[in-house]
Amino acid sequence: MERTFLMVKPDGVQRGLIGRIVARLEDKGFTMAAGKLVQVSEEQAKRHYAEHEGKDFYDNLVRFITSGPVFAMVWEGDDIIALSRILMGKTNVKEALPGTIRGDYASHTPHNLIHGSDSPESSAREIANFFEAHELVNYDKSI
Ligand code: CMP
Repeated sequence: MERTFLMVKPDGVQRGLIGRIVARLEDKGFTMAAGKLVQVSEEQAKRHYAEHEGKDFYDNLVRFITSGPVFAMVWEGDDIIALSRILMGKTNVKEALPGTIRGDYASHTPHNLIHGSDSPESSAREIANFFEAHELVNYDKSI
């Protein structure tokens, strides 16, 4: 069982897509372990996107992710890091296939609705940037 950090970006929150995005993850059989609306600070955004510092789209990315509330989440399930990225679709919305979240709902990069961790290392770092350990629930799978 794996955990990942997923975030509905400001465009997805403003367009009222939180419920539909959560439903896709639930339909796939994944379980939400934490979720909250967050107004991302500039410092938090820069920590989140540290690997993109220096790229031409970095300033716009920080401005966009701090422009309005996001819905930050932790989800769990087998192979969820890879599988949730398939559900999300390609980063570049021109390449995101129909049937994926971005393919069905996003029409502009970087306004691509959702972020998902790309490795166990980034998942751990990104979860820690948004959540305290006590905010994550543990399900009793024996019930
Ligand atoms: P995300 O999954 O949040 O991680 C990094 C983000 O950078 C990505 O989604 C896009 O929103 C954005 N991004 C990546 N590549 C580009 C690009 N070439 N131009 C603009 N934005 C980009």
